[in-house]
Amino acid sequence: MAKSAPFVWLDGKLVSWEQATMHVATECVLRGENVFEGIRAYWSEAEQELFLFRHADHIARLRQGAKIMRMTIPYSDTEIEAASLELIRACGYSGQVHYRPVAYFDMGNLTDYLPSEIRTGMFILAFSMPTTKAVHEGVASCVSTWRRNSDLASPSRIKAGSNYHNSRLAYIDARLNGFQIPILLNEAGKVAEGPGACFMMVRHGKLITPPVTADILESITRETLIELARAELGLEVIERDIDRTELYICDEAFFCGSGHEVTPINSVDRYEVGDGKPGPLTRRIQKLYFDVVSGAVPQYRHWLRPVLGGAARASAAE
Ligand SMILES: Cc1ncc(COP(=O)(O)O)c(C=O)c1O
Repeated sequence: MAKSAPFVWLDGKLVSWEQATMHVATECVLRGENVFEGIRAYWSEAEQELFLFRHADHIARLRQGAKIMRMTIPYSDTEIEAASLELIRACGYSGQVHYRPVAYFDMGNLTDYLPSEIRTGMFILAFSMPTTKAVHEGVASCVSTWRRNSDLASPSRIKAGSNYHNSRLAYIDARLNGFQIPILLNEAGKVAEGPGACFMMVRHGKLITPPVTADILESITRETLIELARAELGLEVIERDIDRTELYICDEAFFCGSGHEVTPINSVDRYEVGDGKPGPLTRRIQKLYFDVVSGAVPQYRHWLRPVLGGAARASAAE
């Protein structure tokens, strides 16, 4: 059953879920010609407020991807933020929200259209999306037989809809083989990332993650955790290539991303990671992450943008 939402923001205005349709001949539908973001908004019980997490950084990445695609997004940062807030408020969510601003190409002339020859539109989807069971319990992973998109073919640095054909192939293959989330290697045979999240492991007390040149998405969560691990946990963080066999002997491992948050990896290819349960450092990183995203750590409040601005408190007091 597909997810649904009360409203969608489509090309400048809110429309109902049923009205949010697009012609089958658009490049967006035909070839997945779009660039998008997946951002979470977190509910703070203490403040009765919903906070967008690192919205501005996500939009900067959206523009970076659009630039590589030679796509001009027809809305300013202020307009995209206002549209996101308008949509989330209209949907009336109060728990965790996952929203997706998407810039897309409309109808073109076969595949060789110039950006000036095609309309670029934008839509935003917002769903209620609580933290999954996998975040609490961890997942069984495997090394995918599929390789991550190369920077020289369909760059993983761009969060483009079309890149997710690669993710889906890896996902389905893993599931059919009894695993939950695969790890993709790049063309060089080094660890790249998961289908929708970056990868981190702990070896000898150090946090290790592939560099941004390993055919990965430049993840906002990855960057967040690197900063938090260094500043708040005093951990040494190393960005370097990771070999396949290191996955089998690391002490802890997890996926990180806006959607997957911090998802522990319990095993890879049926080799247990540590003792086969979410590790202690992973748990500390998870706790810190959830504290930061919900506004409980004052020095990181600059990453948050309130959605309701006291509206929820006011209506609760009525
Ligand atoms: C392929 C891929 N890598 C990494 C990530 C994590 O990126 P972020 O932390 O910015 O959500 C995502 C998630 O959106 C993704 O789809």
